[in-house]
Amino acid sequence: MEMVVSEHKQQLLDKIAGGSIHVGVVGMGYVGLPLALTFVERARLKVTGFDVDGNKVSRLQRGESYIMHLGAERVTRARESGLFEASSDFDRLAEPDALLIAVPTPLTAQREPDMKYVINTAEAIGARLRPGQLVVLESTTYPGTTDELLRDILERTGLSCGKDFLLAFSPEREDPGNRSFNTATIPKVVGGVSPEATTVAAALYRRALDRVVEVPSSRVAEATKLTENIFRAVNIALVNELKVVYERMGIDVWDVLDAASSKPFGFMRFNPGPGLGGHCIPLDPFYLTWKAREFGVSTRFIELAGEVNVAMPRYVVDRLQEGLNLRGKPVKDSRILVLGLAYKKDIDDPRESPSFELISLLLERGAQIQVHDPHIPTAPAMRSWPNLPELRSVELTPELLEAQDAVLIATDHSAVDYQLVAKHAPLVVDSRGVYRTPQSNVIKA
Ligand SMILES: NC(=O)c1ccc[n+]([C@@H]2O[C@H](COP(=O)([O-])OP(=O)(O)OC[C@H]3O[C@@H](n4cnc5c(N)ncnc54)[C@H](O)[C@@H]3O)[C@@H](O)[C@H]2O)c1
Repeated sequence: MEMVVSEHKQQLLDKIAGGSIHVGVVGMGYVGLPLALTFVERARLKVTGFDVDGNKVSRLQRGESYIMHLGAERVTRARESGLFEASSDFDRLAEPDALLIAVPTPLTAQREPDMKYVINTAEAIGARLRPGQLVVLESTTYPGTTDELLRDILERTGLSCGKDFLLAFSPEREDPGNRSFNTATIPKVVGGVSPEATTVAAALYRRALDRVVEVPSSRVAEATKLTENIFRAVNIALVNELKVVYERMGIDVWDVLDAASSKPFGFMRFNPGPGLGGHCIPLDPFYLTWKAREFGVSTRFIELAGEVNVAMPRYVVDRLQEGLNLRGKPVKDSRILVLGLAYKKDIDDPRESPSFELISLLLERGAQIQVHDPHIPTAPAMRSWPNLPELRSVELTPELLEAQDAVLIATDHSAVDYQLVAKHAPLVVDSRGVYRTPQSNVIKA
């Protein structure tokens, strides 16, 4: 066996070193597409992007991008280089030497890991797996997914993990819209099911990325990713709780955070907001909660952070209601403009955005809602809010603002003119700390 392992390992390492390794990326979303492009741009490797969504595949083939912060020119250039192609022909999964999986890992309605995308992908790969391939899971998931779930499915082929194929986990750390870091400059953690898998996967990523951090196992790599996101979820909950406490005391939490951030050690800034959003922070921590149950342990920090963060949209709506009340208005039949649908500033990603919860709560209370988001012309159908009406971004004009009873800032996009908003809207509810100097018609929430 040793000989076979080292033979496959050596062949892959030679192909990596020689630049002839063919990389397949499964799932051309927010994670998979930049990863695929980075391998083309940085390492000049041949890359095939696989996706079940034929529309995405056609657009990539035409050199188009469907993700705002990834300009179409990057896709066009990758296509023109002849190194990149997209495909929904899964029989071609046998072609690449390395397959990197970046498919969704959401939660079910019962807040349990929804592994169907990973399972479908594993089965699709399993049906074509050939000796000598490297498979790396990138999707965020509970510890054990790679060396239990994925390994079991791939071994149903009769091929053996570590002997015939190599298997590893390497979490993605994309931060969409962050100008200081990108796929190539964010250090990448890699943990294999076997030491050979770690070595080969790390060598592959090193071709394209600035820094690769090898860890002892796929489980350590899986737990690392969850730890990072749990850290964020818990700290965001903490500042959200402080926001509520300080507001009662007449203290502006943003002033406090600005001041606390001057401490050069032992403090890391997190900002409060109207609730959690995005694919990662609201969901990933519960992957650990679920797995922990199998071991008879509870994850109280995670549950508490979830509770505090989930309560935020209601808190913001209550603040808005208080603001209207002071002006003698009920929420019912009030005209409210929600500013921002994306879950954070300067991106076009509305997934799990608290804006939808805010809108849904306001509609429940009888408000008339309009929305403006410079990056999302029309909101796509949202799985968690199936009953919302179609939300189309309206143009932000003085007349529009004057016609509102309140404007609710849910996302602090840089492309919005907040002075215009404060000048013309009768009441502004600011859940993002956009206005730092007090203004008579602005309330913080
Ligand atoms: N978006 C982020 O910033 C981010 C950051 C770190 C980690 N992650 C993790 O990375 C993973 C992918 O997230 P994403 O944001 O790229 O999701 P996404 O929804 O943007 O992309 C996933 C893609 O996979 C495709 N897909 C679904 N099933 C498939 C299948 N069986 N075969 C091939 N393609 C399939 C979908 O059509 C979609 O294009 C998730 O586990 C997520 O938690 C995301």
